[in-house]
Amino acid sequence: MSLIQEIESIYDEAVLELSKLNSEEELDTKKNLYVGKKGKLTQILKTMGSLTVDERKTLGKLANETQEKIDNLVASQRIKIKDYFYENTLKNEFFDTLRPIQEPSLNGTLHPLTQIQYEIEAIFTSMGFSIMDGPEVETDYNNFEALNFKADHPARDTQDTFYTTDGKLLRTHTSAIQVRALRNLKPPFRIIAPGRVFRYEEVDASHETTFYQVEGMVVGKDISIANLIYTMETLLSEIFQKKVKTRLRPGYFPFVEPGFELDIQCLVCGGKGCSVCKHSGWLELLPCGLVHPNVLESGGLDPKEWTGFAFGLGLDRLVMMRYGIHDIRYLHSGNLRFLKQFQS
Ligand code: PHE
Repeated sequence: MSLIQEIESIYDEAVLELSKLNSEEELDTKKNLYVGKKGKLTQILKTMGSLTVDERKTLGKLANETQEKIDNLVASQRIKIKDYFYENTLKNEFFDTLRPIQEPSLNGTLHPLTQIQYEIEAIFTSMGFSIMDGPEVETDYNNFEALNFKADHPARDTQDTFYTTDGKLLRTHTSAIQVRALRNLKPPFRIIAPGRVFRYEEVDASHETTFYQVEGMVVGKDISIANLIYTMETLLSEIFQKKVKTRLRPGYFPFVEPGFELDIQCLVCGGKGCSVCKHSGWLELLPCGLVHPNVLESGGLDPKEWTGFAFGLGLDRLVMMRYGIHDIRYLHSGNLRFLKQFQS
C-alpha cells in the first residue's frame, strides 16, 4: 500500500471509529490514536525522510488536510454528543413545575431570653433610662473591690468565680458595670445594663454556670427607697401586664446599704402556695438597695452630695416564671423543639 493510500485509509478508519462514539471522554482518547503525538498519521509523517522532495510535498499536503479533516470531525462529533446528552436528559427527567412547595417548618425567631431583654429595655427607656454595656471578662476591682468586697470579704465566697490565667475573671454579676457607670457618666443618671454573667456552680434545675441579668442604677440627689419601690413595681406590672404584689425583706450585699430582696406574690397560685413558690406564696426576684457610700466614692462621687439605688434582675428566672418553665437548663440547651414554642 502506498503512503497515500495509507493516509486515506487512516482517515476512513477515523471517520468510522469516531462517529460512533457518544461520550466526550472517549472521543478525546480515541482521536489521539489518529492525530495525537503517537497517532497513526504522525507515525507516517516520520517515515517521509526517504522520499523525494516532490513526494514529500504531496504527502505533506495530504497529511495536513487529513489532520484538519479529522479535527473537524472531532469538533462536530463533540457537538452531536452534547446535543444527544441534553435531549436524553430532557426526555428522561421529569419536573412537575406546578407541584406546591413545602413551607419551611421553622422560621428564625428570638430566644425567649432576648425577647424579654428587649421588652425590659423598652420599659426602662420609656422611663428615661439609657442602656449600658460592659465586658464579660472583668477586673477584680470592678467586679468586687470597688463594690465594697474587700480582699478577704466572706461575701466573695457566695459568688463562685471563674478566674482567667491573666489575673482577670468572668464577671459574676452585672453589678460590675456600676463602677464603669459612676466613672463614665455625669450624675444624675439612670441606666440599665443587661448581660451575661458566670458562676462556678454545680448545674441543676435552678442553677447554671452562665445566666443573664439586668443591672439597674439610678444616681441623683435625694434618691430614696420609695423611688426604688416605685420603679420596681412599674417594671413588674409592665412585664406581667397586671398589678403584682410585692414585699421587701432585708437582704445583704456589700455594695448596697440598706439592701433588700424584693419578692413578688407567686403568679402561678396567686399567693396560696404551690410547688413553684415552694408553698410560701412568694418568689424571690429582685435583689436591690441604696448604693453604698463606699461604692459612690470608688466611682469618684461625694456620698454626701449624691445618692442612688441599684437592682439586679435575673432574666432566666423571669422567663421561667412567665412561661412556667421548671428547669433552667432548657434555656441554654439550643433544643429546637423547646425554642419553637416561643415563635412569635
Ligand atoms: N449583683 C447581685 C447578685 O448578682 C444582685 C444585686 C444587684 C443586689 C444590685 C443589689 C443591687 O447577686
